[in-house]
Amino acid sequence: MSFKERVFSGVQPTGNLHLGNYLGAIKKFVALQDSYDCIYCVVDLHAITVPASVWGGPQELPRATREVTAAFLAAGIDPRKHIVFNQSQVAEHAELAWVFNCVARIGWLNRMTQFKEKAGKDRENASIGLYAYPTLMAADILAYRATHVPVGEDQKQHLELCRDIAQKFNSDFVDSIRAHGYGESFFPLTEPIIQGPATRVMSLRDGTKKMSKSDASDYSRINLTDDADAIAQKIRKAKTDPEPLPSEEAGLDPRPEADNLVGIYAALTDTSKAQVLAQFGGNQFSTFKAALVDLAVAKLGPIGGEMKRMVQDPVYIDGILGDGAARAQAIAAETMKAVKDILGFVRR
Ligand code: TYM
Repeated sequence: MSFKERVFSGVQPTGNLHLGNYLGAIKKFVALQDSYDCIYCVVDLHAITVPASVWGGPQELPRATREVTAAFLAAGIDPRKHIVFNQSQVAEHAELAWVFNCVARIGWLNRMTQFKEKAGKDRENASIGLYAYPTLMAADILAYRATHVPVGEDQKQHLELCRDIAQKFNSDFVDSIRAHGYGESFFPLTEPIIQGPATRVMSLRDGTKKMSKSDASDYSRINLTDDADAIAQKIRKAKTDPEPLPSEEAGLDPRPEADNLVGIYAALTDTSKAQVLAQFGGNQFSTFKAALVDLAVAKLGPIGGEMKRMVQDPVYIDGILGDGAARAQAIAAETMKAVKDILGFVRR
């Protein structure tokens, strides 16, 4: 069967949304609205896979959920033309994840590097949810039979697993899929969208580490709610050295910290690193950083301001999430009915 082109992506409500989330994901979500039907989800079921002391607990979760929603809206996602909702309001995600737990193989999950990183040395004490995280992520995507998923580089392996799950389901149950009139395959092999100069934004303090919500140093990241002074200070203090930026002809900068700042500039201006070097090659970092401060403040300031304004109005945000959840559920429920028929579950 042919699949309707549809985009799905998710962001965890775990505080400190940062420039990596924006450039790697949210900015792309906005751009894709013109060419696809889009579904953007605040993945609260994923948030609780780590200990409550890490996700913030029941006091913090509503605020964090509304803050990610506000970031989506402030960045320019249109919740009327597209769908914005939080995952726990659509039970089909968890239901389909169970089916996928029975399709995915333990060997596949054992290869997931994110689990190894997040579980660390204390593997025995990690939650089963953290281990099964990628099957829930596949369910998020395939509940809508989404064809495209914009994400940062760190999610690539999870998307490969999503394709493996779709393929195994399609082949294990091909006869039933045919018999129910779905042709040769029920789930699409979803394509990741991981493109551009900022698919992996690095820490401002250490160019070999990813910019992350969990880094102890707030100077490692630019948060979307940082004000102009904080953005300027963090960029000025970002690790660099006295050598100038290379010229465009010399090729990309081999220093990870320098390359990261060039990539951020390129992504914020929708250009390439080569174009940025054509403009700033040979300049000292003091000059380049001053330009980057102005650019970052101009692009991020209004988004942060709008987010802070919107979170003051939880009724408005909850209305958007509720409306989005109802529309998402209508689609996911159809998928789940079909999955039940394909598997042979007796249903009403
Ligand atoms: P999460 O919440 O960790 O991050 C949200 C998005 O931001 C991207 N990202 C980055 N991109 C570039 N540089 C960085 N330093 C950086 N840090 C984070 C992530 O790649 C992601 O796109 N598992 C997902 C959430 C999820 C999901 C899904 C995504 C759940 N179900 C279904 C897509 C489809 C996650 O933890 O993202």
